[in-house]
Amino acid sequence: MRKLLSAGLEKLRRSEPTVATGTRNARVVAVAAQKGGVGKTTSTVNLACALAGEGQRVLVVDVDAQGHVASALRDAVKPARVSLSEVLLAQKTRDVLEAVVPTAIDELHVTPCDKSLSETEALLATRVGREFILQTALKTARTHYDTILIDCPPNLGNLTLNALVAADHVLIPCDLSILAFEGVADLLGTVQTVNERLRHELRVLGILRTRVDARTRQINDAIGAALHDNYGGMLLDTVIPLNSALAKAQAAGQSVFRFAPKSPGAAAYRSLAHEVRARLAGEVIAAAQP
Ligand SMILES: Nc1ncnc2c1ncn2[C@@H]1O[C@H](COP(=O)(O)OP(=O)(O)OP(=O)(O)O)[C@@H](O)[C@H]1O
Ligand SMILES: [Mg+2]
Repeated sequence: MRKLLSAGLEKLRRSEPTVATGTRNARVVAVAAQKGGVGKTTSTVNLACALAGEGQRVLVVDVDAQGHVASALRDAVKPARVSLSEVLLAQKTRDVLEAVVPTAIDELHVTPCDKSLSETEALLATRVGREFILQTALKTARTHYDTILIDCPPNLGNLTLNALVAADHVLIPCDLSILAFEGVADLLGTVQTVNERLRHELRVLGILRTRVDARTRQINDAIGAALHDNYGGMLLDTVIPLNSALAKAQAAGQSVFRFAPKSPGAAAYRSLAHEVRARLAGEVIAAAQP
């Protein structure tokens, strides 16, 4: 009996995945917005590619069941052996690294499409410490990258909450529509709740104006002014224009830098990468809290 037990224990021990600790210390940024279609995935993917292009080691974690990160980069992404859902729902702590695959883009890794994340979202509600599961699962992954970006679904459910608790910063894309503008207030409310109730120190990296169509000047001016009045210091200087190259690149499964490197969209995301690096490097963020 004793022999049987120790053989069983030994088997369990051997089946535990081992994930080696690295030497880096990633900054984790959740890209979140309550409204759908505001450019979360486009911003996540192209910011990640721009940072990787500058020599950073970057991981994109896709916590949206739509799996748009993998489709936006499908030219470069292979399926993983382990899904993110398996990592998040495991009884024992596992690391996101297990669900990561390299891409054809140097220094860029991603978690591929995981359609079962919608069921996972519901199952997380039954777990003890449910808000902290992704945070814990990123512990070793953080030591392998310079920046980790988390692409969130268009809601404030359990997976977005896990992303906010796992992140050091949140980047909030906002197209210049009234619904997206209202969504910013909701998200900032959630950030405050997370910080107060879960004793977290999530910081707002910035609000990013996206899909800005120069032809709709009146509405741009009105929403732009409201954003300035309410969230002045949080607004990023970089503005992402409405640019068909960004949509076409996503449809082609490529980053905008590969698909149309000279497009206004590529220039805007390059500029965003510089601004994000500067903000992550320090002082601007402190002045930009709610
Ligand atoms: N600046 C832009 N110019 C033109 N098209 C854009 C721009 N940004 C995003 N798009 C297009 O708009 C659509 C929505 O963008 P995206 O998928 O990035 O939004 P999202 O916020 O991630 O959506 P969801 O909430 O469904 O996850 C896509 O077809 C994308 O190609
Ligand atoms: Mg998306």
